[in-house]
Amino acid sequence: MSIDTPPMTPPNEPKTINDFPKPTRQHIINCGFPEWYKTYRTITGKARVIPITQGFLDYLNEDGIVLPDENADPQSTETDSGVFSSATTDDDDDDEYLDPSERFADFHATVRATIAELGGAVYPKLNWSGPKDAAFMMGNTLKCASASDVYLLLKTSNFVTHDLENVFDDTVDTPDKDGKLLQLSDIQYALVLRKWVEVITSVEFRVFVKERKIVAISQRDMNVYEFLHEGKDEFLHLITVFFDKNLKTTFPDKDFVFDVYIPKTLITEARVWLVDINPYALRTDPLTFQWTEILNMDPDEEDFEPEFRLINKNDPEAYNFASSNYSAHKLPKEVVDAGTAGPASIAEFAKNWRDIVEGLQNADVDSSSDDDDDDDNDDDEQDGNKDEKESDKHEKKTAPA
Ligand SMILES: Nc1ncnc2c1ncn2[C@@H]1O[C@H](COP(=O)(O)OP(=O)(O)OP(=O)(O)O)[C@@H](O)[C@H]1O
Ligand SMILES: [Mg+2]
Repeated sequence: MSIDTPPMTPPNEPKTINDFPKPTRQHIINCGFPEWYKTYRTITGKARVIPITQGFLDYLNEDGIVLPDENADPQSTETDSGVFSSATTDDDDDDEYLDPSERFADFHATVRATIAELGGAVYPKLNWSGPKDAAFMMGNTLKCASASDVYLLLKTSNFVTHDLENVFDDTVDTPDKDGKLLQLSDIQYALVLRKWVEVITSVEFRVFVKERKIVAISQRDMNVYEFLHEGKDEFLHLITVFFDKNLKTTFPDKDFVFDVYIPKTLITEARVWLVDINPYALRTDPLTFQWTEILNMDPDEEDFEPEFRLINKNDPEAYNFASSNYSAHKLPKEVVDAGTAGPASIAEFAKNWRDIVEGLQNADVDSSSDDDDDDDNDDDEQDGNKDEKESDKHEKKTAPA
């Protein structure tokens, strides 16, 4: 079977989305946190990479949400904790609760110890994706203070499921260094725990690189921030210097997308931190750009300048951007309400999970209606006052995927 190559648009015509090259599997691997962290640990926030064991992988892949008992004495054999389970069967109200972490005890112990080591609060992700679409489960935050917090987010997130099941979708089969074709089963999955930082999201940027040159930069938080316009030249300078010094010649691929965070306070100098490296692929959100725009940029053109795009107050886009993030991944309002109302409600919701899903499947849902060590970087430098952001108020009525 031949590789699916995109149709070629004639050279002088603008390229269309069909011309977008599929990424290689090796490129996807290179953009995974465990891979790039080996090279760039000194320019990113403090993090730990914990290899995922088969026991934990099975737990992630299981239906239902059963969480470990955080208060259990690790030495004790007592397992009845009262922690909720949504993996109910029709007649299992009296079933004995089995702590799932018994199947991945060493991994669980490492997660607990790592959270403590990182100061008691972490941001979790797998190799590529954080569970941003599951933040509603924790009251609209990804800040995890316990292993159960981490597992709840990972098990709820569709983005994490994508890492586990679909990360090689729409890629070109490529042999690895030993000539073997890369398969999902070759991926060493890892849980990445990053020390929690109160990120000021207005000063996060996404940078698009083609042919080892920056072609486009976008603000990452899709709201209007007037002060960014005044600081645009300085941010461009900082990002360019950071790229030239750290990434330009060292990243294995010549096309990629990276995210940076540039906090600056009255008392600290602006410093650029690497947040993530993303595939140069349609799956990466181009934010204020369209992928076709980036596709048609030619960094080798004479006088080429990268485009730094910010959202203006009067942009028609500014209005559109105000719509809810990840709305396509969101859950019904009942579920969101449960998530924002605290642990007791989450437990209640988990018990009723199946009823909700079945109810939705039966109901005539109008999906268009919108009615409701050496690497111990000084992370304190990244801290700052958290932006007060308008939280999502309108949740789409879409059934869980
Ligand atoms: N250590 C941290 N503490 C708190 N928040 C963080 C931390 N690291 C990242 N974040 C926040 O989470 C957001 C997403 O992080 P990250 O880029 O790692 O996730 P992702 O799933 O790869 O996102 P994307 O799909 O946009 O590429 C960041 O933009 C930042 O606002
Ligand atoms: Mg990313």
